[in-house]
Amino acid sequence: MKKLIGVLTAGGDTPGLNAAIRGLGKASGGVFDMEVIGFYDGFRGLMQNRTVRLEGQRLSGILTVGGTILGTSRDKPNKMPVGNKVMDMTDAMIGTYENLHLDCLVCMGGGGTNKSAFMLHNRGLNVVTLPKTIDNDVAKTDITFGFDTAMGIATEAIDRLHSTADSHHRIIVVEIMGHRAGWLALGSGIAGGADVILIPEIPYNIEKVAQAILQRSRSGKRFSIVAVSEGAMSDVEMAKYERLIAGIQVAKADDNKEEKNRLKAELESFEVNQQTSTIYLANRLQELTGLESRVTILGYLQRGGAPSAADRLLATRLGTHAAKLIYEGQYGVMVAVRGEKIVPVPLAEVAGNRKIIPADHPWLDSARNVGTNLGD
Ligand code: F6P
Repeated sequence: MKKLIGVLTAGGDTPGLNAAIRGLGKASGGVFDMEVIGFYDGFRGLMQNRTVRLEGQRLSGILTVGGTILGTSRDKPNKMPVGNKVMDMTDAMIGTYENLHLDCLVCMGGGGTNKSAFMLHNRGLNVVTLPKTIDNDVAKTDITFGFDTAMGIATEAIDRLHSTADSHHRIIVVEIMGHRAGWLALGSGIAGGADVILIPEIPYNIEKVAQAILQRSRSGKRFSIVAVSEGAMSDVEMAKYERLIAGIQVAKADDNKEEKNRLKAELESFEVNQQTSTIYLANRLQELTGLESRVTILGYLQRGGAPSAADRLLATRLGTHAAKLIYEGQYGVMVAVRGEKIVPVPLAEVAGNRKIIPADHPWLDSARNVGTNLGD
């Protein structure tokens, strides 16, 4: 009997998802003689058994299309909003898998998706995942698909901001996505020639940033571009954040519910303030330097539109390789990139881990060596 594969896309959408679905579908239906169905809207579609057969025409014309033809959601199997409740719907998903007699479930997603997939794998499902996210923060893979496209979009934005910043002799602070990792801001900041790059991995000192901008000004450069990752924090903010996280851990260990709730509420309001931290940063830089500052938040532009050639290629390689692994009966793995190779990595090594920029990463050296200020 032919193997039957179910596939879903979960978490934030990413350019290259359709290329990966196409790669998986075409290789499965072709050389490996298997069948593929898609679940709509991530784990919610798996719970509700909302499916589409992925064959023939459905797989045509999607290689270059952004987003995901399956739709996506951030729903987690064990914390699913249903009506006005949040429920553990894992059993319903296992039910769908069993009723359809699936041989494997393919989950395309980032950190959260890998965690959910691992949980389903531990409940007895055959699972294979593909690493996708513009943030490039999935553990145990050199790169994720979507990253290259988003980095290109952010780089082009920085290029364009140069001429307007130059004309008006302004500081332009450009906020770049990346969640709690700085890959996107660092990569596009270097490629776009940002003068300052601020990332979550290096807490910044605002006075030092202001000094670097003033120094540029004194040397005749009448504008500055500051590329700031959405998760970047000043040294003061980072100290507060770490104090709150550590405090919550202690309160949990002491079973002190009152203190835990108080600190959690404080953390929540800290995180709400962080949503406007780029605006605050620009205002402070204006005060400290006396130079006019403006903000550009790139937001979802970085996730939209057609994937780059590199992402189409990577997504196709990962999708087709997933089909091969399933054909061979290798489950419980993420299809990862290691140098020139595509390799299976046990989900246990991926789930719950995140890949941030290590302090000795060569991109950091390159940035410093061209005179970019990293806020430290
Ligand atoms: O993970 C991709 C990403 O775009 C992050 O860079 C960003 O922090 C987050 O998703 C935004 O999530 P949402 O689409 O739920 O607003």
